[in-house]
Amino acid sequence: MKILIAGGSGGIGHALVEVIQQEIPEAEIHATFFQSSPKDKGQINSVVWHRADLTDVESVSQLSLEVGPVDWVINAIGMLHTQDHRPEKSVTQIEPEFFFKTVEVNVLPSLLLARCFQNNFKGSQSARFIALSARVGSIEDNRLGGWYSYRASKAALNMVLKTLSNEWRRIQPDGCVVAIHPGTVDTRLSEPFQKNVPPEKLFSASHSAYQMLQVILRLNSDQSGQFLAYDGSFIPW
Ligand SMILES: NC(=O)c1ccc[n+]([C@@H]2O[C@H](COP(=O)([O-])OP(=O)(O)OC[C@H]3O[C@@H](n4cnc5c(N)ncnc54)[C@H](OP(=O)(O)O)[C@@H]3O)[C@@H](O)[C@H]2O)c1
Repeated sequence: MKILIAGGSGGIGHALVEVIQQEIPEAEIHATFFQSSPKDKGQINSVVWHRADLTDVESVSQLSLEVGPVDWVINAIGMLHTQDHRPEKSVTQIEPEFFFKTVEVNVLPSLLLARCFQNNFKGSQSARFIALSARVGSIEDNRLGGWYSYRASKAALNMVLKTLSNEWRRIQPDGCVVAIHPGTVDTRLSEPFQKNVPPEKLFSASHSAYQMLQVILRLNSDQSGQFLAYDGSFIPW
């Protein structure tokens, strides 16, 4: 069993590394970081760390060679805001550069991971391609508005995953491609937006990671192409 966690240096990604290590001790875990050294988060024994820019095709291609055959790929990369830009409250705040950056970070890694790792899944009996999406990327569930760039990027990510599930059903019939919403999780990504979140709805990263792992362990190929929440419930696209 070999598992790659892309974005293992992030709040949720790092919790996934720890939870999977505890719950599936026999798994060989590979994880990526980009700007944040995993050493800052404490040593996690036996995890193989790779530095990679997952928006760069050469970098992802090199990663696929380093990791080799794989069973699960979990993409926990994403962005909501930068130091200079908050998510838009109004369409009048749209900045093209921020929009394109958000789409680049939230969509390209899944596309490039799928492109570069397709052959690495060959031979796996339990191929799983999971990307962390967000409920706010659901078009049907959108009742509040705002957050144009983030919502649009997650809706685009969702379309990528749905399309991939259709393509891979033919070549990887036992595999499963899903989008998962982790809940609202206490990380640097959500930190500026937590003040109106009731405490019982703000999860620790380890709680979210544990919940999502239970969902991933129960997945079967019939569920490929679904958008699920951390508790396994169904989210409309
Ligand atoms: N937190 C929430 O409440 C929440 C809610 C819904 C959905 N989500 C989704 O869950 C995922 C994880 O979020 P989080 O809260 O854990 O965020 P986070 O703590 O900010 O982590 C973001 C991760 O993305 C990586 N990353 C960014 N750009 C990259 C690039 N070009 N190449 C490679 N890695 C890159 C970062 O790596 P470095 O730091 O090493 O650069 C980091 O590992 C995201 O997709 C987010 O949209 C989160």
